[in-house]
Amino acid sequence: MAIRNIVQVGDPVLRKKSFEVVDFGEKTKQLLDDMKETLIKADGAGLAAPQVGVLRRVFITYVDGVFKEYINPKIIKQSGKQVGEEGCLSVKGKFGTVERPLKVTVKAQDRNGKEFTVEAEGFEARAICHENDHLDGTLYIDKAKNIGED
Ligand code: CO
Repeated sequence: MAIRNIVQVGDPVLRKKSFEVVDFGEKTKQLLDDMKETLIKADGAGLAAPQVGVLRRVFITYVDGVFKEYINPKIIKQSGKQVGEEGCLSVKGKFGTVERPLKVTVKAQDRNGKEFTVEAEGFEARAICHENDHLDGTLYIDKAKNIGED
């Protein structure tokens, strides 16, 4: 495993649309392992592949002490709304208030290509929506009602 560099806002890679993962080989597993180590070091709740400069539809979350890996995720259902504070490892030193769905259902593949479905709510739903946005080049600062300094 290796810690990767987290790119910061202003880097064009954060604004690009990521590509579907078709190869579930060693390279993808290495990426996931590296992202996990990078997220632990950065002490965050989630990390998307474009944040480490890789334009693949991959993100991980770390919520309530549990890591989850999502490959080719699709939010297939959402309901309710929640308004709360968000930050991003690619937008250091800032936070903002963002409205998100209260509950989401996300369908994705695991590191072996096997499909699974997760139903999440509250903070986990927020983390999933935030990371999923990264895969389409969207940052929370695009949606935040106000941005503050840490
Ligand atoms: Co982010």
